[in-house]
Amino acid sequence: MDKVYGITPHGGKLVNLKDLSEQTYTAAEKLPKLQINAWNISDLELLAIGGFSPLTGFMSEADYNSVVQTMHLTSGVIWSIPITLPVSEANAAKFAVDEEIALVDANNTIYGTMVVTDKFRPDKKVEAQNVYGTTEEAHPGVKKMYSTGPVYLGGPVKLLRNLDHGDFSDFYMEPLETRKMFHDLGWQTIVGFQTRNPIHRAHEYIQKTALESVDGLLLNPLVGETKADDIPADVRMKSYQEILKYYYPKDRVRLVIYPAAMRYAGPKEAILHAIVRKNYGCTHFIVGRDHAGVGDYYGTYEAQELISSVESEMGMQFFKFENAFYCTKCGSMATDKTCPHDEAEHISLSGTKVRKMLRDGIVPPKEVSRPEVARVLIEGMRK
Ligand code: ADX
Repeated sequence: MDKVYGITPHGGKLVNLKDLSEQTYTAAEKLPKLQINAWNISDLELLAIGGFSPLTGFMSEADYNSVVQTMHLTSGVIWSIPITLPVSEANAAKFAVDEEIALVDANNTIYGTMVVTDKFRPDKKVEAQNVYGTTEEAHPGVKKMYSTGPVYLGGPVKLLRNLDHGDFSDFYMEPLETRKMFHDLGWQTIVGFQTRNPIHRAHEYIQKTALESVDGLLLNPLVGETKADDIPADVRMKSYQEILKYYYPKDRVRLVIYPAAMRYAGPKEAILHAIVRKNYGCTHFIVGRDHAGVGDYYGTYEAQELISSVESEMGMQFFKFENAFYCTKCGSMATDKTCPHDEAEHISLSGTKVRKMLRDGIVPPKEVSRPEVARVLIEGMRK
């Protein structure tokens, strides 16, 4: 087993559920097969590489209920969002409890195996309310969850092949590897940054403000499934590379993808995002305004408030930032904490507005987006 450097992983141990041996693969070919989707495969990958440590599989009924009701695993470890494998009634009927099955994609390619220890019917309304804070189908995370099968399979998994991350392969690292990289760089304190949007000046401001207090920044954009009107991951990845080239010190930042799907669960997802980044080796995590939010479902600082209420259990530290904007009077980025001027002096645009400008080929003001970034984004959106 390779040495696990850095901060103690969530729950104490960095999980590794990869088994790339030919023998296991050959044995898996003889197992009954369950077709899973891209979202399930990304969860499988994160389980296997230890991103979701201490989880070792899709959640059992007991852990699922415990997480939905108490935000903790049955072991007592804090966990905010269930990691589940939903299936149709027909598929649920095919597999017996304690049976080992192979997890395949639409092309019948085997990705992993799972021992089905649990088969249960969740109350999705309760899951929606407790995890997403709403039962409304207009919420993209709730809608997605409602659209999946009515039965959840739980049980330990193995990953039998490395996933192909295509154009992002150069930016793919596993938690064991990022931890080793931080060690080799001599970084003792590392701040993780989650994002699903193209990088803008407020992002840059809060990242750099945090970086003043730690050794390094892990820029960790989510590149799994997002809602249709979010900017595609390939375009965003170009924007991150562009800004790093011109505005960040090379030896203080690393860009690594976070290959997960976006849940839009606001406060609960902020906790999940932080836990995963701790598993990647981050000692600190940034939570700004409306973290992982969507529409008006969450209060601007609700994620920060939830984190504050459980911070002692998280085993890491947090940088919480107020809404950042450019102030024309200050001549710099600021927040209400640091700027005395009137709101009329503040320049900031909502993500929705910026996305619309980019789609229309309009360059957002330089106070909102670095021109180099805007160029890449407009070019990307045109394609
Ligand atoms: S998120 O869904 O991944 O949270 P986004 O990529 O926009 O969305 O945000 C990444 C991080 O930056 C989150 O912690 C978010 O709270 C923070 N953030 C985004 N915009 C601002 C802003 N203007 N001021 C302060 N924090 C911000």
